Amino acid sequence: MIDSSELRTKRMPLSHGAGQIPALGFGTLIPDAAATISATRDALAAGFRHFDCAERYRNEQAVGEALQAGLAAAGIAREDIFVTTKLWNTNHRPERVKPAFEASLGRLGLNDLDLYLIHTPFAFQPGDDQDPRDQSGDILYDRGVTLFDTWGAMENLVNTGRCRAIGLSDISLKELVPIYDSARIKPAVVQVEAHPYLPETELLEFCKAKDIAFLAFAPLGHGIKPGPLEDPVISAIAARVGKTPAQVLLAWAVQRGTALLTTPRTAARARENLNITALPEDALDEINRIQTRQRFNEVVNTGSPGFIPQGR
Ligand SMILES: NC(=O)c1ccc[n+]([C@@H]2O[C@H](COP(=O)([O-])OP(=O)(O)OC[C@H]3O[C@@H](n4cnc5c(N)ncnc54)[C@H](OP(=O)(O)O)[C@@H]3O)[C@@H](O)[C@H]2O)c1
Repeated sequence: MIDSSELRTKRMPLSHGAGQIPALGFGTLIPDAAATISATRDALAAGFRHFDCAERYRNEQAVGEALQAGLAAAGIAREDIFVTTKLWNTNHRPERVKPAFEASLGRLGLNDLDLYLIHTPFAFQPGDDQDPRDQSGDILYDRGVTLFDTWGAMENLVNTGRCRAIGLSDISLKELVPIYDSARIKPAVVQVEAHPYLPETELLEFCKAKDIAFLAFAPLGHGIKPGPLEDPVISAIAARVGKTPAQVLLAWAVQRGTALLTTPRTAARARENLNITALPEDALDEINRIQTRQRFNEVVNTGSPGFIPQGR
């Protein structure tokens, strides 16, 4: 049973002494630069200390600006925040990994990263076009590189000392196991969609057994309605414990042993999403018994994301 005060500030140790990841993370998939800056600034001010970015979101520079300004204004040290970004599908070729990593660092205005993830297991045709397609509109995949090749280049980044931990995103258990088995540096984090409609229990159990932090995105089902936010079981528990449905979903995620990402766009929502308290065991059991199954993000099928910000 987790104490309520521990829930908000919970940190999960990463394998190989790569530090600790705050369980409550702020995601930066926001479709314009000005909104990215204000939401990131508000999240930092509200108390978020874990920031999830990606070169594909095309707003690393805006996130970096907001973080530099926010850290300076509040007297928070760089070491007190945890920053992740992700290698996009067009940079899977080993010789492209380090330049992509350094370009992300440059945009974020950072000297090092806490976590670098392979965004999806799909390699796209290398180049500047993040969404390469043929004349029929079909994605151009790169068959000349394997996930093992890319993982080897990720391992080399850890050796440079500028990247404390590496991991994978949008990956299935079937794809993760061979990488885990062959890796010189084991994945520290796996980031996938997870919520009561997609609990990913088998993957979570594997991660727990292997000391991999499981990081859930879409813990609110991407806010899509109908979805977990409007589920009658969640609403009834929220009314019973005096919390909002979002707070119930986030508490469940942390109490089952995952870290999570959420994207509040306002200061009030940032405070709401941090202000979670532990649910009683019977509420956790009720949520675990929800039978609805739904995936909201199809990125795992093709490597092509849902919506993408059009910013800088
Ligand atoms: N690895 C991947 O492929 C991948 C894919 C998707 C996302 N991600 C990461 O995960 C992060 C989280 O994204 P997400 O979509 O899962 O975020 P989320 O916070 O679970 O869902 C965002 C939606 O929830 C709504 N929302 C947020 N807080 C709420 C609250 N307290 N009450 C009611 N609605 C609320 C937002 O509404 P408003 O817009 O109205 O505020 C928005 O529509 C992203 O920013 C990104 O970093 C990764």
